[in-house]
Amino acid sequence: MTVVVLLGGPGSGKGTQAEILAERLGIPHVATGDLFRAAVRDASPIGLEARRYMERGQLVPDDITIQMLLDRLEAPDAADGVLLDGFPRNRAQAGALATALAERSSQVDRAINIEVPTDELVRRLSGRWVCRDAGHVYNESTNPPQVEGRCDIDGSPLVQRADDRPETIRARLTQQLASLNDVVDYYDGAGLLRVVDGVQAIESVADDVLAAVTSEAPGGATGAD
Ligand code: AP5
Ligand code: MG
Repeated sequence: MTVVVLLGGPGSGKGTQAEILAERLGIPHVATGDLFRAAVRDASPIGLEARRYMERGQLVPDDITIQMLLDRLEAPDAADGVLLDGFPRNRAQAGALATALAERSSQVDRAINIEVPTDELVRRLSGRWVCRDAGHVYNESTNPPQVEGRCDIDGSPLVQRADDRPETIRARLTQQLASLNDVVDYYDGAGLLRVVDGVQAIESVADDVLAAVTSEAPGGATGAD
């Protein structure tokens, strides 16, 4: 089982990179933000609860988030591994993940922090458009679609995320970056962290992330030993 965690601030490119990496590594892309947005669309109990936090730019409480992620890990397509995007977001989530993986005789193999300065995060989120049907990600200045307003992949209309309004972008950045730093420290302490410069062309970031995932850990071992 291969478990890779993609870390980075809101707008750092986790979803963009996960789409590329999932294909290259042959493991599914599991994003808690995408799972929450699907639950909001379905108006399920989890969605109704999560929306109250998401629209304020806050983290959804751990009990809901951890259970949702653990349920997703039970799906057959996750048996050989997952590429996690947006989870864990704090130390409690990181601990719950480690426990769940240990029960499967597994562990996180690599945590990759995609580093992007805050002013660039604001710029990227302000210009982001996502496709309505599958959430494929575009940017009006850095990564535009071939046909304006339409997804290159499935042709569905491009829309803006509810939490990409300027005031919610500010709230996400002020309320979430501290716990991201805690998670970065957690994986650094475990010797699993690699840092990638996120301010490069999308393909160059992807190459660096792939190299970081497959690189040997100091001492010659790959992964968490
Ligand atoms: P989530 O959906 O995870 O949002 P996020 O972490 O804020 O990250 P984003 O999806 O906004 O950005 P990204 O890093 O994926 O960047 P992207 O690839 O789109 O979570 C949403 C909410 O759900 C949270 O606020 C919280 O409320 C809740 N939640 C989720 N998980 C949770 C958890 N574990 N615990 C508690 N609550 C949770 O790229 C951004 C833009 O930049 C795009 O326009 C893209 O085209 C462009 N871009 C990408 N790469 C580049 C590049 N190299 N150069 C130039 N432009 C680029
Ligand atoms: Mg994302």
